[in-house]
Amino acid sequence: MTDSANGRIVAGLLAPHPPHLVYGDNPPQNEPRSEGGWEVLRWGYERVRQSLATRPFDVIIVHSPHWRTVVGTHLLGVPRFQGLSVDPVFPNLFRYHYDITVDVPLAEAICAAAQEEGLLATMMRNPHFRVDYGTITSAHLTNPAWDKPIVGMSSSGSFFYFSDDYGQDEMIALGRATRKAVEASGRKAVLLASNSLSHRHFTQEPPVPEDMSFEHIYHHGQYLWDMRVLRLMKEGKTRQLVDEMPDFIEQSVSEAKAGCLTWLLSALQFPTYPAAVHAYGTVIGTGNAIVEWDPQRATGAGVSP
Ligand SMILES: [Fe+2]
Repeated sequence: MTDSANGRIVAGLLAPHPPHLVYGDNPPQNEPRSEGGWEVLRWGYERVRQSLATRPFDVIIVHSPHWRTVVGTHLLGVPRFQGLSVDPVFPNLFRYHYDITVDVPLAEAICAAAQEEGLLATMMRNPHFRVDYGTITSAHLTNPAWDKPIVGMSSSGSFFYFSDDYGQDEMIALGRATRKAVEASGRKAVLLASNSLSHRHFTQEPPVPEDMSFEHIYHHGQYLWDMRVLRLMKEGKTRQLVDEMPDFIEQSVSEAKAGCLTWLLSALQFPTYPAAVHAYGTVIGTGNAIVEWDPQRATGAGVSP
């Protein structure tokens, strides 16, 4: 399956995790039924799946805001997790029966590479651990067949306990470590940064959650920030984006404060080629973009949709 001389990142995705998108899709794993909703974002994930279908890959690596660890980065370290994931805020939308296979050797290699970078990193070996809904949702929407193993990575609390700048430095080092471990592993990996963009959200749910007459951006300033971020991605100005990230986080209450996006951009070596924006839309007022980086474009060999 793998060739130790040919490990690489085949795609990097900003792959946000609103449980509403799984609810709207009505997969058999999720108990609640819906009448649809949030189609533009769900079609964006369809485009992602079509794009990935053209490129073989071995593993999906997810960095999730909703596995928050107070100290350092933790990685799923058990070969299989089964259980029921219930969204704590939206139990009416997301009660998902999961059966997840983990690429433990690759997780261990990333953990070791992170430690070599001087980061605090550890393996999570509790077989009864309940996998967070951010990991599940992003991985499900990218690969609903669940026919590839995942590596699950927590979000360190450094942004919250120290500062956004300090957290970013850690995520840049974690991105380097992830890339190094993937290359040495021989795996072809797809990386998912599970965060949304602007994150100011409604405090009341409409009677019918998928009633799209209620859905819109919360605030014009949030929208302007989201569009600025997407423009920088499309123009290949990801170093500038990382430089501006603390302001973006502070002014738009962005979920990028979990570090996922900075980790991804670092693992991709701060792309200067254009990102493909598959979709942008709001979920309970928060800004969500589905964005793909195809590293083959750096060599002129790849074609992104
Ligand atoms: Fe979230």
